[in-house]
Amino acid sequence: MTVLLLGGTGEARELAVLLADAGVAFVSSLAGRVARHRLPVGEVRSGGFGGVDGLVEYLAGVEAVVDATHPFATGMSANAAAACARTGTPLIRLERPGWSAAPGAEGWHWVDGHDEAAVLTAGLGTRPFLTIGRQHLGSYVGPLADAAALVRVVDEPEIPLPDAWVVRLDRGPYERERELMAGHRADVLVTKDSGGTWTWPKMAAAGELGLPVVVVRRTAAPAGVETVPEPAEVLAWLGQHLDRAAAGTTEP
Ligand SMILES: NC(=O)c1ccc[n+]([C@@H]2O[C@H](COP(=O)([O-])OP(=O)(O)OC[C@H]3O[C@@H](n4cnc5c(N)ncnc54)[C@H](OP(=O)(O)O)[C@@H]3O)[C@@H](O)[C@H]2O)c1
Repeated sequence: MTVLLLGGTGEARELAVLLADAGVAFVSSLAGRVARHRLPVGEVRSGGFGGVDGLVEYLAGVEAVVDATHPFATGMSANAAAACARTGTPLIRLERPGWSAAPGAEGWHWVDGHDEAAVLTAGLGTRPFLTIGRQHLGSYVGPLADAAALVRVVDEPEIPLPDAWVVRLDRGPYERERELMAGHRADVLVTKDSGGTWTWPKMAAAGELGLPVVVVRRTAAPAGVETVPEPAEVLAWLGQHLDRAAAGTTEP
């Protein structure tokens, strides 16, 4: 019996340290799509489960699930909610707050998806800095075909990009954002509402340089899943749920 920690984020790695220190048996799960993983402490499994059915099968040996995946990994979160509902496995979501209340947020351009972000960006500048990951680059290729985009990704993009685009492979830490953006003469920043402090320096730099910022909103999390922002809160929650499981009751 163990805890399944769905990870791929800095918070998940922080939580893994807390769990290891507390002597909780757990397995971290990674999607396995990034070439150069930053690994958490403890046992790690890698690769998809095979949808909800596969995850249901995997949960046979699992006492509780912590969904600490990225705020934009909505497929995995939905699958975790569905599989835990089916098996009655306690589930908690660890999610960093977004940037909607951050300094300057009221002046940013908030959009609901990447297609909308791409079209809007094309109207705001000709030298965009794209920091939206590689999965959704396809949405930007058409509207920004004539732009001189700077694209920052962790791994090589999987699709052909316009010749004038510059790809920068970088997994952070992102400490010289102002220099990078000024060096490219970026005139608009595009990002997801990832939240947290890890990628905040680009937002601060855009503010300092007076650049417009396009932000793709998060979609709503699966309904009915308790969500906390701090790894320590997950540890407290697990304390209650693991005690209850040991006592043979699943009553709330
Ligand atoms: N999306 C982002 O912007 C972003 C940014 C930073 C880190 N990440 C991390 O990268 C991973 C993939 O993100 P995504 O947006 O591609 O996910 P996604 O679209 O929500 O998930 C697609 C499928 O990938 C598999 N998967 C995703 N996360 C997994 C995990 N932690 N362990 C095992 N399988 C996983 C699952 O496959 P099956 O259906 O086969 O189980 C899932 O259905 C996540 O772990 C996430 O935390 C994502």
